[in-house]
Amino acid sequence: MTAPSESLELEVGAVAHGGFCVARHEGQAVFVRHALPGERVRAVVTERRKGFLRADAVEILLPSPDRVIPPCPFAGPGACGGCDWQHASWDAQRRMKADVLAEQLTRLGGLSDLPDITVEALPGGPLSWRTRVQYAVDGAGHAGFHRHRSSEVLPVDRCRIAHPAIQALPLLERQWPPGSVIEAAASSTGETAVLTRGSRTGPPSGPVPKLRERAGGHEWTLDAGGFWQVHPRAVEAFTGTVVEQLAPEPAERAWDLYGGAGVFAAALAPHCGPVTVVESDHRAVAAGRRALSGLTNVTFARGDVAQVLGNPRWRRVDLVVLDPPRSGAGRAVVEAIAARAPRAVSYVACDPAAFARDVRTFGELGFDLTGLRAFDSFPMTQHFETIGRLTPR
Ligand SMILES: C[S@@+](CC[C@H](N)C(=O)[O-])C[C@H]1O[C@@H](n2cnc3c(N)ncnc32)[C@H](O)[C@@H]1O
Repeated sequence: MTAPSESLELEVGAVAHGGFCVARHEGQAVFVRHALPGERVRAVVTERRKGFLRADAVEILLPSPDRVIPPCPFAGPGACGGCDWQHASWDAQRRMKADVLAEQLTRLGGLSDLPDITVEALPGGPLSWRTRVQYAVDGAGHAGFHRHRSSEVLPVDRCRIAHPAIQALPLLERQWPPGSVIEAAASSTGETAVLTRGSRTGPPSGPVPKLRERAGGHEWTLDAGGFWQVHPRAVEAFTGTVVEQLAPEPAERAWDLYGGAGVFAAALAPHCGPVTVVESDHRAVAAGRRALSGLTNVTFARGDVAQVLGNPRWRRVDLVVLDPPRSGAGRAVVEAIAARAPRAVSYVACDPAAFARDVRTFGELGFDLTGLRAFDSFPMTQHFETIGRLTPR
């Protein structure tokens, strides 16, 4: 029986979804962080679960050629939980993400004959990209980040993946209400905003600052804390990919589901007929209506996507872009889309497992995955964005 904190020598196998690699010890799976595929490591068990162990590699006995010195001194076993792959070269990070996407599409998506998958780099390098950063505050009032799978707050001097404008904010030197949460944002127009909450899910403390974001010739004024793509080059890359995958024709009708303030609708509108954004957050809808008032073919419907699509009035659609939260769209929404028989669907996904499950559902309903791009819009972390085109068989 292996007790927590026991040290194991492990041959590290493939990368898995979640920012770790898989090894085996006495027939049991071990999910190892801070290791790379092919390495031999000494790892300390951090958690014992029925059927698997979690462990942190603390000594690298045989290093991978992909191993680098982490640029951040707060990365590593027991330290900041924000980044997963600081110890891997950026090329290797993207190769591992491509392997995770292929594995999820095969195992959860039920696909065989996958195309070669690459996870494309966005311009700007693997550091200084994060335009939205959430800090936790410890009991003494110092801001920092949670240790991995812990509520303990690790004070830091700065976050190396944060946008330079956020790194320059004097947030980490001052005292904050213990237990509060600080959200810092840097916008594409050069503005910064700081929002505080009493707790992670609590309402903002005080008035909510505004931020202007610019993309594709439009300008949005958003509440700080409202959704906007985090990587500074993400909107350009994602909207370009969606337009390329959908190839809109002048009279075609489009839906932008989970549309936020309408960035995809704004990119599609010049090329097609009516575009309807469906979004549940009333602040995003209000910001989108203001920003896109000059686009006469764009309308917003505020509400839950499943409920809105459940209304039979919503009959005809040719093109659909959907960008759901991490949990994915789910069977009911996929069925509602497939029932309208659109010519093409472009699915923007931040979680490869939810994406793969929804691709399987689309497959059962007669839609094939006929296009696939993925972007490393979250370097140093396990996260990435996938954009898949689904078309009727
Ligand atoms: C990943 S964000 C995408 C936003 C937008 N497409 C963009 O790129 O800026 C997901 C959006 O879905 C909205 N959302 C979440 N669940 C929803 C639901 N059930 N119905 C409608 N919108 C939802 C969120 O408020 C959020 O704006």
